[in-house]
Amino acid sequence: MRVGSGTMRVGGLVLFVAGLAVGAQAQGTQTGIQSGAATQHRTAAATPRNAAIRPVVAATPPMGWNSWNYFAGKVTDKDIRDTADLLVSTGMRDAGYVYVNIDDTWEGKRDATGKIQSNEKFPDMKALADYVHSKGLKLGIYSSPGAKTCARYEGSLGHEEQDAATYAEWGIDYLKYDLCSYRTVMQQQAPDDAAAQNRLMREAYEKMHQAILKTGRPMVYSLCQYGDDSVWEWGPQVGANLWRTTGDISANFDRMSLIGRSQAGLAKYAGPGHWNDPDMLEVGNGRLTLDENRTHMTLWAMLAAPLVAGNNLTEMKPEIAAILMNKEAIAIDQDALGKQGDRVFADGPLEIWAKPLKNGAGHKSAALAIFNFGESPSEMRKDSLHLKEMGFAGAVTARDVWAGKDLGKITDQYKVTIPRHGVVLLVVR
Ligand code: GLA
Repeated sequence: MRVGSGTMRVGGLVLFVAGLAVGAQAQGTQTGIQSGAATQHRTAAATPRNAAIRPVVAATPPMGWNSWNYFAGKVTDKDIRDTADLLVSTGMRDAGYVYVNIDDTWEGKRDATGKIQSNEKFPDMKALADYVHSKGLKLGIYSSPGAKTCARYEGSLGHEEQDAATYAEWGIDYLKYDLCSYRTVMQQQAPDDAAAQNRLMREAYEKMHQAILKTGRPMVYSLCQYGDDSVWEWGPQVGANLWRTTGDISANFDRMSLIGRSQAGLAKYAGPGHWNDPDMLEVGNGRLTLDENRTHMTLWAMLAAPLVAGNNLTEMKPEIAAILMNKEAIAIDQDALGKQGDRVFADGPLEIWAKPLKNGAGHKSAALAIFNFGESPSEMRKDSLHLKEMGFAGAVTARDVWAGKDLGKITDQYKVTIPRHGVVLLVVR
């Protein structure tokens, strides 16, 4: 059928359709677990100009800030307001960090009608949302399909539609839905039956997906179930815009780099509207060194990962701001092609990852990250750039992102010294 400009729902995605032909299977349907992603993928494949279909939410990996990594259970209304102010004054908002996400521990009790209340740390959620919106930002919230969240606050079990409606009424733009105690329900209802437990989990995620759709308010839907059961294979079918691929990150190099490196092979599951999520950023937290922070930011950009900062903005150092707001690193993450990067070469601690970028002025273009996960500097002595594997024949024109320097033409034999736990990030064409 031929349609004009407007929004329509296809499976898990709310799509923006700009006057183009779409297959009959895409006609404004809301589908369940079975056919959701299939419809979505068929539509994309069957549409010759599918580049013109872009999801309303998460067309590129979501960017923002989340309270958990720094504030954890102590987060308050004031922290969120301060963060909103600082996202604006530091330039973070204008660099793309627009979602301000309240993680666990905002929840209070339910009233007599079952409506969820925020607790004393968050006196008025609607007023907070209005404040955040007045700054040109969006507000995110957190819940669980279980009776209790991971921090043992009130979850959404049995109140899914009511909670989604409440979030919409408050003006929420993003929901992180964390499995937590729903695991107990799965175990109780299907003891020792992994397949049935998986079905229950998918149904629980689909239930909230439908509840969100019913509100009519676009919300980014973020699944958190720690990467179990190959969630990347079915996340889009339950409407996920992103899904955690691992357990929790922490602010140290070993955990961060383990998570980042474990993403190899997942690239094919990510794309506009649906992203792998290796967890929120720890840039600026803990004792990560500058090289380690750059490695963290680079890995996440190469992975087209959601860039959700988790540091305390009231004490952000200029060198941390420079990493989080490096325009070229962000551009790699947010590249319109929407392709996640992958490892192309490894020689012990030295790894080369590549991410295809949207062609510029007819030139093939890619980001190339040379990581040194080792304990001493690497001179890449016997390692080449492996440009051929990335489809480049001969010399390429390169720019060193972190050095902010054009390198001119380089060949596959390019050598650079990479510090311990450091990275060199190139854009080549
Ligand atoms: C889980 C999640 C974390 C955080 C906490 C909150 O551990 O993986 O990201 O949301 O719960 O309790």
